[in-house]
Amino acid sequence: MVKLFEKITFRGVELDNRIVVSPMGMYSADNGYVTPFHLVHYGKFAMGGAGLVFVEQTSVSRKGRITNGDPGLWEDGQIDGMRQVVHVIKSHGAKAAIQINHGGRKSSQQRAFRGNSHLTDRDIEMGEESWVPTGPSDVPFSDGFQTPAPLSKEGLTGVRDAFVATARRAVLAGFDVIELHMAHGYLLQSFLSPLANFRTDEYGGSLENRMRFPLEVTRAVRAALPPATPLFVRISATDWIDGGWEIEDSVIFSRKLKELGVDLVDCSTGGNLRAGSTNANLARGPGYQVPFAEQIRREAGIPTGAVGMIRTPDLAENILQDDRADLIFLARQMLFNPFWALHAAEHFGLTGNFENWPEQYAWWLAKWGGALRANGESLDGLERFSEAAE
Ligand SMILES: Cc1cc2nc3c(=O)[nH]c(=O)nc-3n(C[C@H](O)[C@H](O)[C@H](O)COP(=O)(O)O)c2cc1C
Repeated sequence: MVKLFEKITFRGVELDNRIVVSPMGMYSADNGYVTPFHLVHYGKFAMGGAGLVFVEQTSVSRKGRITNGDPGLWEDGQIDGMRQVVHVIKSHGAKAAIQINHGGRKSSQQRAFRGNSHLTDRDIEMGEESWVPTGPSDVPFSDGFQTPAPLSKEGLTGVRDAFVATARRAVLAGFDVIELHMAHGYLLQSFLSPLANFRTDEYGGSLENRMRFPLEVTRAVRAALPPATPLFVRISATDWIDGGWEIEDSVIFSRKLKELGVDLVDCSTGGNLRAGSTNANLARGPGYQVPFAEQIRREAGIPTGAVGMIRTPDLAENILQDDRADLIFLARQMLFNPFWALHAAEHFGLTGNFENWPEQYAWWLAKWGGALRANGESLDGLERFSEAAE
């Protein structure tokens, strides 16, 4: 049995397979509103056969945006556009998920494809809006980044309520799965990490104190969601920096998330590494973050998602067969080949003649594929794609 194509259920939501399009910011929203780009972008992943398609990190407040191009669900007017995105995804057979986020001290940055650093005078001249970010403490992310304003107790309540209101809007838009972004140095992760949180009140210092605010947000969002709606949390399982957040902290944190009714921990890493610095602890390679998903799954007893340089169907399948994770998240490989899931099914011999492809394509591809095969040519370009993708 090919596990990658086994169904899996979280609360009231059944996924057709274990393939997830990982959240990827496109920095192309218009004042927080999605555009035709998003319809095309997300629709093609659903057409490509992934069981779950994630809409990128979406801001819970205007000032929580990482960039001027981030989509948001901080006001009711933004629901309609998202509803259309959800409709496109679901009408092509996938389930729709959304990651909700507050950028914290990494807010008010350049769009990734325009520099991926702090906003410059030139960006402002070009019309980008700049604002003072908020964070746990008044310590900037990196050189050139603005010093964040530390959140007061009222500020924390406001952010918590913004997460709740955004999650409710996401449900109204029709999303099947909601994910809280607690990774990559954004607001919630910056409370967890001792590299970003220098507070002296009950939200800083000990591990218990640093976990307090992210857990308060989790509790409030879970209470606001319908019981049938799964809640995922993406974490940075390690900062990869000595003295930072470690995998042992992630295990403890994941146990707490489980107690609060979280359905899956999506195991990424990093995000507090400052621009220009290097870290000897970090050795990237195929599946390099899988050990974190495995350890959390085993030691916290909660389903996990594995992500990071998982490119081939065989690696994805092995991770599942070895019980190291429950879902496989793919990001860059999906940009490169949105039909990855359909190719993977063929790779495993689950379908032979494009039966699983959209019928509008399948009738023609089947004829063409037959001709290629008769010529002794391979249709499986996955290995070649994999080499080119990194
Ligand atoms: C263009 C792009 C945008 C991304 N935006 C997000 C995001 O919005 N939220 C998030 O948690 N991760 C984001 N990531 C990280 C991916 O979800 C994923 O964790 C990472 O790329 C590693 O997976 P991969 O090797 O399959 O690309 C982004 C990655 C890329 C390439």
